[in-house]
Amino acid sequence: MPIIYDKTRKVFALNTPETTYGIAILDGIYVAHAYYGKTIPTEDIRCLLKENEVPYTPSQNGREKAAFLDAMWMEYPESGMGDFRESAFCLRTQKGHKASELFYESFEIEQGKPELDGMPSTWGKKEDCTTLKLFCRDALTDVRVCLQYTVFEHVDVIARSVVVENHGKEPVYLEKVFSACLDIEDRDFQVVSLMGAWARERYIQRLPLGYGRQCAASFRGESSHQEHPFMALVTPKTTQDTGEVYAMNFVYSGNFMAQAEKDPFDSVRLVMGIHPGEFCWKLEPEETFTAPETVMVYSDKGFGKMTRTFHKLYREHLIRSPYLNQKRPILINNWEATYFDFDEKKLLEIAKEASELGIEMLVMDDGWFGRRNTDESSLGDWQVNENKLKGGLKNLTEQVNEMGMKFGIWFEPEMVSPDSDLYRAHPDWVLQIPGRETTLSRAQCVLDLSRQEVVDAVYKMVAEILKSASIDYVKWDMNRPLATLGSACLPPDRMGELSHRYVLGVYQLQERLLCDFPDLLLENCSSGGGRFDPGMLYYSPQIWCSDDTDAIERLAVQEGTALLYPLSCIGAHVSACPNHVLGRVTPFETRGHVALAGTFGYELDITKLTREEKEMVKEQVKQYHQYYSLISEGEYYRLASYQENKQYDSWMVVSQDKKEALLFYVQVLASPQRKSICLRLAGLEEKAFYEVNLISGKEEIRSGAALMYAGLRIPRMTGDFRSLLCHICRK
Ligand code: DGJ
Repeated sequence: MPIIYDKTRKVFALNTPETTYGIAILDGIYVAHAYYGKTIPTEDIRCLLKENEVPYTPSQNGREKAAFLDAMWMEYPESGMGDFRESAFCLRTQKGHKASELFYESFEIEQGKPELDGMPSTWGKKEDCTTLKLFCRDALTDVRVCLQYTVFEHVDVIARSVVVENHGKEPVYLEKVFSACLDIEDRDFQVVSLMGAWARERYIQRLPLGYGRQCAASFRGESSHQEHPFMALVTPKTTQDTGEVYAMNFVYSGNFMAQAEKDPFDSVRLVMGIHPGEFCWKLEPEETFTAPETVMVYSDKGFGKMTRTFHKLYREHLIRSPYLNQKRPILINNWEATYFDFDEKKLLEIAKEASELGIEMLVMDDGWFGRRNTDESSLGDWQVNENKLKGGLKNLTEQVNEMGMKFGIWFEPEMVSPDSDLYRAHPDWVLQIPGRETTLSRAQCVLDLSRQEVVDAVYKMVAEILKSASIDYVKWDMNRPLATLGSACLPPDRMGELSHRYVLGVYQLQERLLCDFPDLLLENCSSGGGRFDPGMLYYSPQIWCSDDTDAIERLAVQEGTALLYPLSCIGAHVSACPNHVLGRVTPFETRGHVALAGTFGYELDITKLTREEKEMVKEQVKQYHQYYSLISEGEYYRLASYQENKQYDSWMVVSQDKKEALLFYVQVLASPQRKSICLRLAGLEEKAFYEVNLISGKEEIRSGAALMYAGLRIPRMTGDFRSLLCHICRK
């Protein structure tokens, strides 16, 4: 049974295939946490409660209630009553008091999973998952909170969210509504997070957890390049296949906070939710607030198992696009080929050459609308610039379609340039604070998507373009963080709702787009990978991973991204050399191999390639088709990390039936007299025999056991930045 209620012991056991999560009701009112880890019997859960170590539950010893609250493991700790660790919930009353006591009242267990109002979340059929709802109430304010836990039948994941209802007579102010809290005994934990910047997103960081708090957060209005809505606690010796991992990932695309805190009693509290720093939600009587979802994964077999669990969850229970299971067209994007300097002739030249080489879709990037010839103007004026595209969009798309290619287009719907007709008509539509200079970034302002009329107007413009021609794909970009946070429409005591309302506006826009254009392939993007998060994945099956298209820089970015997200989501293209961000020159073949571990496409002026390079494009296109299902549906194994060994990178994908695998290997710097690398493969069937096709042309037959335990010797390659792909097939 996925969810069991043991009435005698007042215990809830949430069982995924290999884990148990234990909750207990203490003193009839406290929702306490007892256990999370490998599967254990329900009968054991009550004994694991810290009540045995802390014999002063308030019913026994009321005078030490604060000590109890400050030490007990809680499911959803509130501020203001005596738990001085990070709380998960903070409510302010009209009188200005900040305290609440969410006492347990009742529970419900239901098949399936409720949707979260206006927000992305994992989903599942009735037979796939079961949800526990714990109803709690603060008696003084009559604010009620429902803690929701969904257990998946076939994936080791628990999805959590929280719904708050105000049944009182007065409004209350929600200053913090986190989505999850996990209290756990310290095991000398280290904290793993994904940190970065523009062009180097999601580098893996691993640090010991000392006493006090360690946090990852964003205040930028998006999940951000800099920090990622993910945090994991890992035991010190955790590797790819050994050690324990407790991970949380936030299904949300705005401000967030993820924090690990070790207290003086060696308990660790991991919390995740909307960052309270830019948040305060006024909840009127009879109103409801729903917090976004956090998904939790426990792995007893290192990072690899955690990674494959997240991949499975996102492939089977998050991404909704029909393109999830449909082969995506190989695209060519004109951004790095032309930047703003293009017309329909140039695009058609690119399309012609590309179609002859087997590329399937032309994507027209930034610069096709208004008077946009640089990034200084026209965002918001979503009308085709017919000086650039003579004959308009319909003419262009028809000609591209005649070449047998699909057509995609770029938008940045959330933004407006001060030099635009839209801004001149509606200067009050941007985020701004009266009396202060509005902070520009890339010479643009942010539209106030907390306002319904702004959302409607933006949607209308985007939809009109999409209806005007045959458009198969949209790249939805967002090129600046949110600042000067003010809305012309929100009253002062609701201004703290702006950042979250903005994100809800983005979600509404993308939802409407997908409802009205159900066949559209949507790719999210934010100056590269600034909004690569599970919230966005719900709408778009792929997200542009980074503006850094250099194959070697991409190794770290794609390693960090693939730690959580399937390769089929990771936007990756072969681009020109010297690379536009770094100036580095890498072999065309290596660029192809690295892009193949993502959505695969091109971003260069294909008309300028040499004959040899064009032949390589044909070969890469062939490989894409040959390995598509393996890469998009296979299990991912990280074999070596260039970030760690400073020499080489390697990963592989293995088909679900273990009959086929593809090994990727990149030698970063060549070195003389270096001993050859022997890579221990993973995920194969021990007893099966495999034909190993090293691209050098050498074929060998080896057992799965030998490949995994003895390893595969990689042939020496001369030259820097060399790579190889090795196809492995069961005999
Ligand atoms: C940022 C994106 O990451 C790029 O790929 C490109 O679309 C530019 N914006 C266009 O302005």
